[in-house]
Amino acid sequence: MTYKSQSIAYPYFVLALLLFALQVLMGLWLASNYFTTVPQSVVNVFPFATARAMHTNLLVLWLLLGFMGATFYLVPEETGTELAWPKMAIAQLALLAATGVTALVGFFFGWTKGRPLLEIPFPLNLLIVVGALMFLANVAVTMFRAKRWTAVQGSLLGGLVFLALMYLFGVPFYRNAAEDWYYWWWVIHLWVEGAWELITAALTAFVLIKLTGVDRKVVEKWLYVELGLFLFTGIAGTGHHYYWLGAPKYWLWVGGVFSALEPFPILLMLVDTWRDVRHRSQPVRPRLTWVYLVGMVILHFIGAGLFGFAHTLPQINYYTHGSQVTLSHGHLAFFGAYVLMNLTFFYFAIPRIKGYPDGTYDERTGHLGFWLMSLGVVGMGLGFGVAGVLQTYLERIQGQPYMLAQQPIRFWMLVVALHGLLVLVGALLAIRHLLTLKPARPGQA
Ligand code: HEM
Ligand code: HEM
Ligand SMILES: [Fe+2]
Repeated sequence: MTYKSQSIAYPYFVLALLLFALQVLMGLWLASNYFTTVPQSVVNVFPFATARAMHTNLLVLWLLLGFMGATFYLVPEETGTELAWPKMAIAQLALLAATGVTALVGFFFGWTKGRPLLEIPFPLNLLIVVGALMFLANVAVTMFRAKRWTAVQGSLLGGLVFLALMYLFGVPFYRNAAEDWYYWWWVIHLWVEGAWELITAALTAFVLIKLTGVDRKVVEKWLYVELGLFLFTGIAGTGHHYYWLGAPKYWLWVGGVFSALEPFPILLMLVDTWRDVRHRSQPVRPRLTWVYLVGMVILHFIGAGLFGFAHTLPQINYYTHGSQVTLSHGHLAFFGAYVLMNLTFFYFAIPRIKGYPDGTYDERTGHLGFWLMSLGVVGMGLGFGVAGVLQTYLERIQGQPYMLAQQPIRFWMLVVALHGLLVLVGALLAIRHLLTLKPARPGQA
């Protein structure tokens, strides 16, 4: 770590990791609701919808806090200056944390807007907008004052501004349900397949440059190609959510064709990473950070690219829409792309913030955490996938009623939950490891 203000990232990472643990715990509770019959007295005080809102909002909150922390670490180093307003970055964290906790408690008492993943009610939306403005101002002013632009900074700032702008479309209440969903996707889809991809591409490029010592010009050249392709396919690809919600028919074509191209920029990211290390005789150190980075680009491609492609054509989506197939893709993609991106960055930055030589650290138990968590999510994804194909066949081809079709699906949700247990153990190991990171033992790194 070269600049003092980079250490502001640390409290962001710590809070993100604690919320991650809570999120996974909620996921296990949700899965148990599918294979057991929860007593009505419990449902009355803690309904499925409340737990689901907590699971997904915790996810979004911790991933965004992680991205913000990563930005605060990256920007001073790229610009070669201290952050413009370090105290405001701390105030921003306090504001967002307080808003998040209020939202979670509010869900428990039924204070929700009811729109999946964006349940947070209007007054709290405003506080989030204030937090986002504080964040963007801090980052942008630091960059503009320094006047030392790099492609990494540019795409990061572009992604962050895009992210904040899209959030605004989820704030109003639309009386027409079709309109409501239309704009809901501007937030959800254009986040995960637009803005967040730009942020991930920038963070990956930064970590690659620092970790492998590869020539910046080469990485940045690829970054431009990836960004162009992400925007080109991702924006028109929004159409893959407009098939059945009352939007004009041409979306079937636009959505089908452009979203089918979406795996390409993700594949390019994978190729780019591979190309940077192919010629190296020495393995990249620290090993675990590298395992996370490679795991991220591979699972990002499988979860978002392949599993996304599998149900993106209208001919297939007609059957699988809103089934457990969607959940299979949702888990693999979110985990592969954004959970692993965040954890990669934490493993990259925390040893540097703590001042360990060459960013190395004692890797013990960290590897076990990675493998348990990742294999657990893959198993969960496959379990959701089988449940989804079964559901599609029974409900939409055979025409069975929902509750009847649920019976054989219960077993597969048990399979999901058992893999979820692995995820929980792996995640707790990784979280504990990151929060209690120690310098490398002599002779290790
Ligand atoms: C990292 C990137 C991605 C993430 C995090 C992600 C996540 C998700 C999530 C959570 C949903 C479910 C939303 C809901 O209905 O509640 C979803 C739906 C969908 N995703 Fe993705 N996705 C990503 C990339 C992609 C890509 C690249 C494609 C296409 C190639 C794709 C195709 C789809 C489709 C077609 C649906 C709608 C499924 C349905 O009709 O029920 N996704 N995605
Ligand atoms: C123990 C681990 C986990 C289990 C058992 C689990 C289970 C579940 C279940 C049962 C649902 C609700 C499905 C429904 O509404 O019918 C759900 C939703 C969701 N979970 Fe998890 N989850 C776990 C971990 C995670 C992780 C690590 C992530 C992030 C990568 C994640 C992301 C999501 C998302 C994005 C949704 C909403 C999907 C949608 O709208 O289609 N979950 N989860
Ligand atoms: Fe999408």
